[in-house]
Amino acid sequence: MHVVHIAVEMAPIAKVGGLGDVVTSLSRAVQDLNHNVDIIFPKYDCVNLSNVKDFRYNRSYQWGGTEIKVWFGKVEGLSVYFLEPHNGFFGMGCIYGCRNDGERFGFFCHAALEFLLQGGFHPDIIHCHDWSSAPVAWLFKDYYMHYGLSKARVVFTIHNLEFGVQNIGKAMAYTDKATTVSPTYSKEVAGNPVIAPHLYKFHGIINGIDHDIWDPYNDKFIPISYTSENVVEGKRAAKEALQQRLGLKKSDLPLVGIITRLTHQKGIRLIKHAIWRTLERNGQVVLLGSAPDPRIQNDFVDLANQLHSSHADRARLCLTYDEPLSHLIYAGADFILVPSIFEPCGLTQLIAMRYGSIPVVRKTGGLYDTVFDVDHDKERAEAKGLEPNGFSFDGADSAGVDYALNRAISAWYDTRDWFNSLRKRVMEQDWSWNRPALDYMELYHAARK
Ligand code: ADP
Ligand code: GLC
Repeated sequence: MHVVHIAVEMAPIAKVGGLGDVVTSLSRAVQDLNHNVDIIFPKYDCVNLSNVKDFRYNRSYQWGGTEIKVWFGKVEGLSVYFLEPHNGFFGMGCIYGCRNDGERFGFFCHAALEFLLQGGFHPDIIHCHDWSSAPVAWLFKDYYMHYGLSKARVVFTIHNLEFGVQNIGKAMAYTDKATTVSPTYSKEVAGNPVIAPHLYKFHGIINGIDHDIWDPYNDKFIPISYTSENVVEGKRAAKEALQQRLGLKKSDLPLVGIITRLTHQKGIRLIKHAIWRTLERNGQVVLLGSAPDPRIQNDFVDLANQLHSSHADRARLCLTYDEPLSHLIYAGADFILVPSIFEPCGLTQLIAMRYGSIPVVRKTGGLYDTVFDVDHDKERAEAKGLEPNGFSFDGADSAGVDYALNRAISAWYDTRDWFNSLRKRVMEQDWSWNRPALDYMELYHAARK
């Protein structure tokens, strides 16, 4: 099968959040199943070309009164066509955040379909994502389906319904199949007026993570390689390296990591509460995050300064985007906290487990589907063939956070052997794309029937 993704984020060359991870890792998983996958991507001026192999000029074409240069390169083994329109739409130093984002990405979707048409491609599936490539669904059905791309079917994935809901509603009407990124989130949004009429073609498929990209046995950003067999030793070395790098006290205290966009979705108030609670319980805390909203960013800068005077040896807020540091935190932390208000899937809890860090999460969306509380979810885990793997809470309030975090930190202090066996167990769970990629293949086949 020939699958073409039309997307505006892709790890590691232009990633803002999990959408970028998923475009790359789902594509790699489908390619590994011996299918042919191409990605059409904007050539942002801020694209990280050092992660593109064999980058070269491919061709040029005209569309919408502008010349579009096409570049080709390999990203993580995937074929990517980069579109560079002469109108400068992708020369603005950012992925999102321009006043005319709607226009820029609308143009890109149109140009991408035109590229497929003019380039003589005949894909079986065109897969688009979120509001930014939603226009592909209706442009295809209104026009391109009738002119040369008739063999294709469109699959549309909603990673986050919060953004561009109107676009999303229109794409839902036109697409052949739609997915969102976990079964629980698909139920949570089923009543939304833009989803409800289309439930017959709407499926929740959990995301996976790429086990080659996130692999503590083969990770250049951590001090020693480890697997579940030497997890204690591997994580001890990573914790020391993290403490050293951030100037924290080098002692063995329970270390809570938080790696996140700082937005309402991620539970800003709960994150702050958790930082103070961890310190009260004599833990260490490291937050790596950045806020698109300057007010939230400033608020965290103030908190960082306050913590620097009161708890310099036990708390560090790194208010930036830093991929290498994120690897060291996943490896060096004992816990990764994800107290989201809502979470379509969430990848950080999955990456945490891959590195033997225990997830502490709020029970919502994909967090509910992937984290099973050690005290409460034995049966629910068993029904999935799993053992419990973390700590979770319901209420979006301080009491909820306390309930999960207190149990987690107590387990670390009081029952260390059990805690170490839990780390080993979570590392051995399979949260890769092995299973979800097969679900996508089934969906692609169903779309073509
Ligand atoms: P979302 O897409 O809603 O932001 P996900 O959990 O799906 O949340 O994905 C977040 C991805 O972005 C993960 O790969 C995480 O490691 C990464 N990430 C988030 N914030 C940062 C940051 N400040 N620095 C580096 N990586 C980050
Ligand atoms: C979105 C969601 C997140 C999900 C990611 C990848 O950004 O907020 O929950 O994991 O997309 O699908």
